[in-house]
Amino acid sequence: MKILFVASEVYPLVKTGGLGDVAGALPPALMELGEDVRIMMPAYPQALDAARNKKTVLDLGDPFSTGPLSLISARMPSSEAELLLVDSPSLYRRDGGPYQQENGDEWLDNHIRFAALSHAAAALSAYGSVIGWTPELFHANDWQTGLLPAYLRFHHGNPAKCLYTIHNLNYTGRFPAEILPQVNLPWEAYSPDGLEFHDAVSYMKSGLYYADHITTVSRTYAQEIQTPFAGNGFEGLLLDRSSSLTGIVNGVDYQVWNPAHDPHIAAKYQPGRMGGKQACKTALQQELGLPEDPKAPLFGMVSRLTEQKGIDLILDTLPTLERLGGQLVILGTGEDYWEQLLLDRAAVSPNIAVKIAYQESLSHRIIAGCDMFMMPSRFEPCGLTQLYALKYGTPPVVHRTGGLADTVRGAGAGPDQTGFVFDDAVPELLAAALEEAVDAFNHRNKWDNIVTNGMQDDYSWENSAKTYQTLYRSL
Ligand code: ADP
Ligand code: GLC
Repeated sequence: MKILFVASEVYPLVKTGGLGDVAGALPPALMELGEDVRIMMPAYPQALDAARNKKTVLDLGDPFSTGPLSLISARMPSSEAELLLVDSPSLYRRDGGPYQQENGDEWLDNHIRFAALSHAAAALSAYGSVIGWTPELFHANDWQTGLLPAYLRFHHGNPAKCLYTIHNLNYTGRFPAEILPQVNLPWEAYSPDGLEFHDAVSYMKSGLYYADHITTVSRTYAQEIQTPFAGNGFEGLLLDRSSSLTGIVNGVDYQVWNPAHDPHIAAKYQPGRMGGKQACKTALQQELGLPEDPKAPLFGMVSRLTEQKGIDLILDTLPTLERLGGQLVILGTGEDYWEQLLLDRAAVSPNIAVKIAYQESLSHRIIAGCDMFMMPSRFEPCGLTQLYALKYGTPPVVHRTGGLADTVRGAGAGPDQTGFVFDDAVPELLAAALEEAVDAFNHRNKWDNIVTNGMQDDYSWENSAKTYQTLYRSL
């Protein structure tokens, strides 16, 4: 089946979080299953630099009066996977991130930048013959591609089905109503039965309303978003559409995330040959200037620093961590408020290291070198870092929500335990989970069992890709 997978970030070209990981790994997994998948994303400078065999294949005119829009066909840097880069020098060729300027503010023309991405995708239904490839199914991801099913409907008469995956419902792509004519959509769409959401246009709402089917990235989150807890105001619509809503858990690209052959870490290891893990811990303590103590339980976190991720819970439980003789390392970027609070705490504690940076290589060394991985997220659609931590023998400490609830087994699992799970996002329960984790850490047999269980869990993409494949075919 010819499937166009459309996303605003794709690892290793451009990545800010888990969406990039998914967009880099799910399409190749589908190709392995025999599907004909192409990945479409904006031609950001980093993507143009890294992609191979680039060739402009389609001129799409100037639909937004922002200058020429065209399609470049290319290959991923180190695989044969086919890319379609949506090129618009005025919209995408800039310094800064995919969504934000260098000072952290959103790009002011994001409504046009991502309308153009969806426009280009939908246009392939009409002009695919020019490049000899017309999609039979569109797979859109998050608000940046939320207009795709609306364009398919209003501009092309629903030429093919569109699946829309929610990676995070809290980013709604909200813009004033006035933008509607600028993005070439009719006022008819501006309705509660359409893309209107609380007196504004929401690209997320467009995806949720117009797509033929919706998926999200874990079963538990699929349930939670039909309630006020995680629905973010969309719960009514999602409840109405529950028969067209499926939770499919994300997978891991074990080519990239595997301690047995990870080029970023100090020493390799695998179940049964765990010596390298201790070497990774020592190297990490050295790298970050922490006391080199093999017995101190070392907790790690690699995360966007936002409300979602429960940073406040971590700050509130630092006294417990200290009492337990623990060490903590956090790698992250995000809201100034959390960055500053964390830096302030690190400045006064020799056992806390905080790195405000986005560093792919260090993220591997933290996940390998720590004893436990912290993920007290208030909500978490899926979460990938806890899956990486499991593979690296670094049992996660998680709040029982979304994908964390679906992928980490707490003490209730008895001999099958893989981590530490607490029920409510409050500091007292995180503190209790830290105590439980440190207690287990100090009992070697129990600890080895928890570590080995996690390393043996299989979250490779193959299973989830098969579920997507079945769903595509049912559509
Ligand atoms: P989310 O998508 O909500 O950010 P996920 O756990 O699904 O959460 O995915 C986050 C991805 O981004 C992981 O691959 C993680 O390692 C990576 N990541 C997040 N922050 C950083 C950082 N500061 N440096 C390097 N990688 C990071
Ligand atoms: C989002 C979610 C995260 C999920 C990722 C990939 O950013 O916050 O939980 O793992 O998307 O689906």
